[in-house]
Amino acid sequence: MDLLVIEKPDDEILKKVETFCIEDLVKMSLKDDPSKFCIMPQKFVDQDRERIKNMEIFEDDVWVVTYPKCGTTWTQEMIWMLNNNLDYETASKIVLEQRYPFLEVSSILKGYPTDKVEICKNLTRPRHIKSHLPYFLLPDQLWTVKPKIIYVVRNPKDTALSWYYHHKHLHDYTGTKEELIAAFVKDLMFYSPMNDHVLDFWKIRNAPNILFLYYEDMKRNLDQEVKKAMKFLNKNYSQDEIDKLCIHLSFNSIRNNPNVNKDNAIVKYMEFFGKKYDQSNGFSFIRKGKVGSYKKELAAEQNLMLEKYADCSRLKDSEFEYKFG
Ligand code: A3P
Repeated sequence: MDLLVIEKPDDEILKKVETFCIEDLVKMSLKDDPSKFCIMPQKFVDQDRERIKNMEIFEDDVWVVTYPKCGTTWTQEMIWMLNNNLDYETASKIVLEQRYPFLEVSSILKGYPTDKVEICKNLTRPRHIKSHLPYFLLPDQLWTVKPKIIYVVRNPKDTALSWYYHHKHLHDYTGTKEELIAAFVKDLMFYSPMNDHVLDFWKIRNAPNILFLYYEDMKRNLDQEVKKAMKFLNKNYSQDEIDKLCIHLSFNSIRNNPNVNKDNAIVKYMEFFGKKYDQSNGFSFIRKGKVGSYKKELAAEQNLMLEKYADCSRLKDSEFEYKFG
């Protein structure tokens, strides 16, 4: 813990993106490199940071790590199926969150009923674990034991838009789209900064235990990305099996799959707080699944702000480019 500095940024924008379930956001930064930071709830610092840092890692673990809203759930289902001999029967009986738990969820969402870090520690091997944590907050042993890690990136315009709808419908966020995007580009959103999150994994993308994927590529040619992931996991399936998996992973199939779409868990969680899961305008956690939604949905000013965000010099220096479709 002594390696981190915890401070509460005195910024109105930060307060605006706090919601009933995401409270008390603080900035956690590395003492010896303050440019490495992440916005997280204080509860994460108190409850999970140290336990996650010291967590035992196994060589056969399979991690999916992303900045939120980049296609995590979709990728988790793809990876779980590929790594479990296309076991449709189990996938139809057990929800994804149980097959592929979200490591830090108990300390980011208020009142979360179970201790996910403990659950992840005790999963049957090979463990499948999801996390949105940036590189420097993930378990230390990930970088020495080197299990397989799948990282997925999406362009910040579609990501920020998806983050906005997520907040509005699932977190009862009452601020505006403009305010949320202002927080995003100022790196004051929960899990911000996105650029550094991506960059840290981009730098290690060629390591044999890392698979770096783009949401936009999955949309454009799922068959090709499934094959990439299959090879990475040392699996071999026939073209017929891959075709069937691509249908299982299609947007409509994922949206209508109660074991993947999270709707039941969201209803339950929100009801616990006397809130209603707002599915107005056909909203669902698996919402639109498009590349380039921003073209219709972002005003010129927000579009420009995100354009500049995606065009920062650190990304350019590393030759990383987002794909906008
Ligand atoms: P939108 O809100 O833009 O629709 P995450 O799982 O990281 O929270 O990401 C959620 C985003 O991934 C949502 O984006 C969701 O619709 C999209 N998504 C999930 N499954 C998908 C699929 N099969 N095809 C395309 N997009 C998908």
